[in-house]
Amino acid sequence: HIGSAPSSLSVYPSRGLVDEKFTVLVQKAPPGFQMTIHVLHQCEDGNSLEAFAHYTADACGTVNLSEDPSMGGTYSGVEPMGLIWSLKPVPGSKPGIRLSKKNVQTPMEFTISVYKGHQTEGFVDQVQLACVVVERWYMAPGVRRVPITEGGLIGVLFLPPGPGPFPGVLDLWGGGVDLLETRSALLASHGFASMTINYMDPFRKNEETITFLIMFFLQTALRVLQQHPQILSSSIGMLGLSFGASVTFKMAAYSDVVKVRNCAVCISGSHVQPVDGSVADLIEYYNQVITRDLLLPIPTDPTMKVDVGRVQCPLLLIVGEDDQNWPVSESAQDIKEMMERAGNSHLLTILSYPNTGHLIEPPYSGHVLVSTFVIECITVDLWGGEMVAHCRAQEDAWRKILVFLMENLFVHNSANTSE
Ligand SMILES: *[C@@H]1O[C@H](CO)[C@@H](O)[C@H](O)[C@H]1NC(C)=O
Repeated sequence: HIGSAPSSLSVYPSRGLVDEKFTVLVQKAPPGFQMTIHVLHQCEDGNSLEAFAHYTADACGTVNLSEDPSMGGTYSGVEPMGLIWSLKPVPGSKPGIRLSKKNVQTPMEFTISVYKGHQTEGFVDQVQLACVVVERWYMAPGVRRVPITEGGLIGVLFLPPGPGPFPGVLDLWGGGVDLLETRSALLASHGFASMTINYMDPFRKNEETITFLIMFFLQTALRVLQQHPQILSSSIGMLGLSFGASVTFKMAAYSDVVKVRNCAVCISGSHVQPVDGSVADLIEYYNQVITRDLLLPIPTDPTMKVDVGRVQCPLLLIVGEDDQNWPVSESAQDIKEMMERAGNSHLLTILSYPNTGHLIEPPYSGHVLVSTFVIECITVDLWGGEMVAHCRAQEDAWRKILVFLMENLFVHNSANTSE
């Protein structure tokens, strides 16, 4: 492998959090040497994804992916993390595959390799000039994972390293997701005690259930967080994506048993929903929006939307302007107007991202335009967004979400901000 080939490939840091950037460096190549940097990742479900990009060594024989442009491949231009966000299922994969991680107690491994020339396919049959395995973790060293069963909950709590007490975050995914631990683990890696729960399963089975019971269930979850000895009972926030955002709106507006005192983050969600209806009503309404018409007008009927004028805590809305799953831009506009009329719009921050789709997740988890996802009888498979813009939005939104949570949840205990 030595001789006319690059003899040094390094990645720094080679072990880190999934939302942390890394630098890939090729050194000691012949000046002007053309090479392909390739990354391969095998998910736990056995599916493989890959990305690759074409580079040319400079006069010193170096390529630095953090400052040199890719001339082609799955991304182009200067994109330090392009190798991760442009990952695609390897040729021949079945459709609907995306980067995914279930067991957050093990890292995701990415094999980064250098190949001679500007290649586009057949990597398995070629000789690698150099290869490094990179580990990306959702759980930072010292983060603890605690299964939660109190109060009938099915959940997992992640606690940051150290004795605490820590601010708490209740972290909710959308419908169709049972328990996905990635984001909560990552929040704990950033200093928040974060619990995610399976809040849909108990109700999916009984469509007669009024949606108020879902709120009751979420209040139980908030209470469990508040009463935990390592959590600051006065610093609890909620964060939800998609349907998780819809119930977060509802909790922020109506929950008086346990107030969401500190803040709420709603990603790609809407305040429009049959507020006092049954789960069946809710599903019927969602079915209408998803399968029939994204452009349904925002209802004027007050029973069809959460009264966000009642919200008393800071509210951060994250909106993808190319959300093809849900009319979130229209919802955000209506929320803004409702809050202006009610005099609480000073609590509202809207971050709206052009060319960005529905699934705004922590960064470097890729962009998914299409994946298969079933809620009850509804199959959703179109999320929207343009890859580069969507991935930039994920980076920006995640950074701002962390700052928002820090500003609103750490204020009550400045002695605890050393994380
Ligand atoms: C690679 O580029 C990054 C970003 O410009 C820089 O911080 C880093 O020092 C570079 N690494 C080397 C070894 O030149």
